[in-house]
Amino acid sequence: MSNDFDKLLKMRNLARLGGGQERIDKQHAKGRMTARERVEMLLDEGSFEEFDMFKTHRCSQFGMEGKEFLGDGVITGYGTIDGRVVYVFSQDFTVFGGSLSETFAEKVCKIMDLAMRNGAPVIGLNDSGGARIQEGIESLAGYTDIFLRNVMSSGVIPQISAIFGPCAGGAVYSPALTDFSIMVKNNSYMFLTGPKVVKSVTHEDVTVEELGGATVHASKSGVIHYAAESGADAIEYIRKLLSYMPQNNMESPPFVETDDSPERADEFLNQIIPDNPNLSYDMKEVISRTVDNGDFLEIMSEFAPNLVIGFARYDGYPVGIVANQPEFLAGVLDIDSSVKGARFVRFCDCFNIPVVTFVDVPGFLPGTVQEYGGVIRNGAKMLYAFAEATIPKVTVITRKAYGGAYCVMSSKHLRGDINYAWPTAEIAVMGAKGAVEVLYGREAQKSGDPQVYLEQKEQEYAEAVVNPFVAAKRGYIDDIIEPSMTRFRIIKALQLLKNKRDTNPMKKHGNIPL
Ligand code: HXC
Repeated sequence: MSNDFDKLLKMRNLARLGGGQERIDKQHAKGRMTARERVEMLLDEGSFEEFDMFKTHRCSQFGMEGKEFLGDGVITGYGTIDGRVVYVFSQDFTVFGGSLSETFAEKVCKIMDLAMRNGAPVIGLNDSGGARIQEGIESLAGYTDIFLRNVMSSGVIPQISAIFGPCAGGAVYSPALTDFSIMVKNNSYMFLTGPKVVKSVTHEDVTVEELGGATVHASKSGVIHYAAESGADAIEYIRKLLSYMPQNNMESPPFVETDDSPERADEFLNQIIPDNPNLSYDMKEVISRTVDNGDFLEIMSEFAPNLVIGFARYDGYPVGIVANQPEFLAGVLDIDSSVKGARFVRFCDCFNIPVVTFVDVPGFLPGTVQEYGGVIRNGAKMLYAFAEATIPKVTVITRKAYGGAYCVMSSKHLRGDINYAWPTAEIAVMGAKGAVEVLYGREAQKSGDPQVYLEQKEQEYAEAVVNPFVAAKRGYIDDIIEPSMTRFRIIKALQLLKNKRDTNPMKKHGNIPL
């Protein structure tokens, strides 16, 4: 008996070493943790239960003969984060460069299936040279089996990916299919084709970092949601993200006790809007002054910063926040911000997380760049996302809500549940200046002093139309609230909507303009 235990222990220790101490040292020398260290850091201490530790590859060609590493380059299993179950796979670069084989894929699919059956999130920690070159089609089949599961799990259980090293070729599509992706700055990269292929096809000279580093994907492509400073920072971000999410689409998001009073007023908010409508202010300040203890987990902060998205809590209950940011491009909606906002609203809707929307938007960004890029199609995504969402939707218009952008930003007409405006709100088809130029431009030319004439008309128009009262009279705004009381009013609204049940017409699925 003791011999059997000795053997088990020996085998376990061997499996824990992955590709061996030398390769582990190499991994550390690159400033990277091993796959196992990442799992240990991610999960609550001692909670990890590993599966298929002894599984090995089946390929015996192109130098694979006689080479065998227990676990075959991926660590899989489940554990807990803050006491809640998660399933995890962690690619082990020390074994054949973390490359994906048939058996590797079987291990990943096993935990993805278990996660779906048991309604718990899946977290994928990526660090891999891609398809196991010695295998070929088995490896491609394995990837596709994973992609299918990513798609089937979408909207049922949260899926989070982090990239700690290479992630190239078709392998990128698994992280791309998950709800949130995180990369580590200066130590990970993600692209379909590497610099050499790029050079031969397009003659561009580009480095790995310029082509697919974390900064590029966080700020330019919008492929990832957070560029972490280190592996540890990436893991911390995953843990924080999960704290706002339910385990699956049948649950409510987790409540966290707070000592921040729901009645807390904030006088500063009464003065935050500048007198000059062309001046900006920081919408993140409005957010942090109203949410519990100022805690706001921003997502995609570097991509389309004219729209702010992220998670926070009101009186202990998680919400998704969507907000125009007057500090960037005056808070306009454009292609990137619409896509960013739409996907986030859809995530919240999948997982029963109410959305609170702060509006200060002068309209959609005009010009050929936007029109040629399809701002019509892309802006429609945001509209579609808010319209189809059946979660509680609370909206606060702080200042501008002009034109189509008013309609899009969780307006009453898109089934916004509770829509408030601050007294400083300007809700109209367009600003007074632009409006009177269209309406009175010709008449002004005939008058003695066109400028004085237009200024007078502008004042008349602003008083009659550009204010929150016209919308409030129609009931499109439920109330005009004192800014200092915004937290209290949002919390009351969310309490009211706690048991909200709303449905969409029966259909296989809608056809969002992709
Ligand atoms: C088998 C691989 C491998 C792979 C790396 N290794 N990638 N083995 N299949 N895909 C092995 C190496 O041979 C090496 O083994 C060990 O892992 C470490 O790799 P190094 O090259 O020494 O590491 P490094 O210098 O850090 O370079 C990492 C790398 C490079 C940039 C990822 O290994 C590389 O370019 N690999 C090939 C990438 C690739 O073309 N993959 C296929 C992409 S297409 P030894 O024993 O020598 O130490 C794809 C299609 C997916 O993935 C389609 C999905 C639908």
